[in-house]
Amino acid sequence: MLFQLSEEQLMIQQAARDFAQNELKPGVIERDEHQKFPADQVRKLGELGFLGMMVSEKFGGSGLDALSYVLVMEEISKIDASASVVVSVNNSLVCYGLEAYGSEFQKEKYLVPLASGLKIGAFCLSEPEAGSDATSQHTTAEDRGDYYLLNGTKNWITNGSTASTYLVIAQTHPELKHKGINAFIVEKGMEGFTVGPKENKMGIRGSDTHSLMFDDVKVPKENRIGEDGFGFKFAMKTLEGGRIGIAAQALGIASGAYELALAYAKQRKSFGKPISDHQAIAFKLADMATKIEAARMLVYKAAWLKDQGLSYTLAGSMAKLYASKVAMDVTVEAVQVHGGYGFVKEYHVERLMRDAKITQIYEGTSEIQQLVISREILR
Ligand code: CAA
Repeated sequence: MLFQLSEEQLMIQQAARDFAQNELKPGVIERDEHQKFPADQVRKLGELGFLGMMVSEKFGGSGLDALSYVLVMEEISKIDASASVVVSVNNSLVCYGLEAYGSEFQKEKYLVPLASGLKIGAFCLSEPEAGSDATSQHTTAEDRGDYYLLNGTKNWITNGSTASTYLVIAQTHPELKHKGINAFIVEKGMEGFTVGPKENKMGIRGSDTHSLMFDDVKVPKENRIGEDGFGFKFAMKTLEGGRIGIAAQALGIASGAYELALAYAKQRKSFGKPISDHQAIAFKLADMATKIEAARMLVYKAAWLKDQGLSYTLAGSMAKLYASKVAMDVTVEAVQVHGGYGFVKEYHVERLMRDAKITQIYEGTSEIQQLVISREILR
């Protein structure tokens, strides 16, 4: 067992750290306040090759491993989780899904611009009545010969208005339940496809979250991903990798809050000495550091398993369950270490605390991860 990053991984980690400090940190408070999507920064992330990290170079990607992706997610999430969720969705849910299961035509037409960062993608599974219960898709895709007629509504879609390419899950054969579900590539601008208003969220406020409406949208047959009825498996396989990305996001949020709390505790004085010299604070920092390290091991292991071509269903869900809990615990404590300053926006930790919560909700709630883990260990 080698607990050491390669030279290349260290360089990628440093590049992401520099980008987060230089490009994301300035303006992060204002973007959160005004719910402003980090459009320029996302474009630059694309130029750095961070939007198609694991896609082979043949299809415009960077051809890197999942561990490098996790390192980038961690560094960006320390500063701006609204930007890192774009990295996560584009890499894990959209590019991965297309590269692993798309046709050559779909890869050439849709994956290349997504992997090279020229376009952004969105993954559309959740519905008003199908969040955790993902088999209960109400969006329908009726087979009309050379096209599908798509009707329905999707909720809480990340990159809802900024994406150009949408992977949409819909029911084609209701009588077959989850075996009748398909996944489709839908383009912005297709007739009948409209984007609803932006959600006013508690956290990751800079990310672009919308409902999407499909009203008799004609989707060409060649835009169905995989065999007829493959859509639910497609969503599950894709989400497995997505969970590693969100686990890394949670890890980054926790680490970012911890680093701020550590720095603050060393310089803030009370009762004649730095507050880090008081055990009440020192022990909090010790617990935070320990939890983060444990989360990091789970996240890196899940990425490593993926890189080895081994099953990562269990490891990915464990990583997400634990890292998202650590993100909540550590950010709450980071605010506490900051005292009154932690409660105001300039000190960043209150934003990280609000951002942490979504990691326990999207790409499968903590309860869904417990369900996946319990099934795996009881099988
Ligand atoms: N890999 C492959 N196949 C899988 C699978 C996996 N990981 N998990 C399930 N399946 C297959 C099963 O084998 C089964 O197929 P067969 O009938 O052929 O055997 C089929 O899928 C149905 O499986 P289950 O009976 O286990 O289905 P279920 O209804 O009990 O639910 C679930 C499974 C794990 C709860 C699933 O519904 C789930 O993951 N729900 C959460 C959905 C989710 O994560 N939503 C997040 C939305 S996306 C998002 O948040 C993106 C964003 O904006 C950032």
